[in-house]
Amino acid sequence: MRTHRIAPSLLSADFARLGEEVKAVVDAGADWLHFDVMDNHYVPNLTFGPMVCLALRKHCTVPIDVHLMVQPVDALALAFAQAGADWISFHPDASTHVDRTLQLIRGAGCKAGLVFNPAAPVDLLEWVIDKVDLVLVMSVNPGFGGQSFIDSALRKVERLRRIVDASGRDIRLEVDGGIKADNIRRVADAGADTFVAGSAIFGQPDYRAVIAAMRSALG
Ligand code: DX5
Ligand code: ZN
Repeated sequence: MRTHRIAPSLLSADFARLGEEVKAVVDAGADWLHFDVMDNHYVPNLTFGPMVCLALRKHCTVPIDVHLMVQPVDALALAFAQAGADWISFHPDASTHVDRTLQLIRGAGCKAGLVFNPAAPVDLLEWVIDKVDLVLVMSVNPGFGGQSFIDSALRKVERLRRIVDASGRDIRLEVDGGIKADNIRRVADAGADTFVAGSAIFGQPDYRAVIAAMRSALG
């Protein structure tokens, strides 16, 4: 059986109390911390940068999973590697040289991920799969928390699961957007092993109860 990872997205946390929120969600059983970086250029929203990541790093005892929604990618990817990120993922359409960006992230000591938007084809993965540690399927259009899950993501996850398994490589398959306790099982059944959830966790008073409900749904 696959090891499942639940990665709460800080995007839906109380930004006035970020350190406390990180500690609370880690204490509640988060496996990873998902850190959504938006630049008001690649996506129409603006969040936080490497300085915030660095400040939170010491409050966080689990891996930090940085999701870059920025263009250009390379300089910020390096800055996040220096700020203590463990995983750094980017959208291939935001990078001029995808292969180079993957090498840059791995060369900086981090695991590298590619993110596919709902309408994005996944073909290019074939040509760089030897340099990829994670594939992230967007099940909403990036930019905002609290949107509804787009069902076609399930077929994309199924396809990517086949590609990843055929590669024989240890690649995590993550899904991001609209995941809740009542649909997480479907996402896992399609082949995902890592689940981002923002509003479903930070929108509730008891983070531990939500994470436990997600784990029990995963079985
Ligand atoms: C959207 C972000 C997501 C978002 C998910 O651009 O990448 O990580 O926070 O939020 P929910 O779980 O609320 O859909
Ligand atoms: Zn994200």
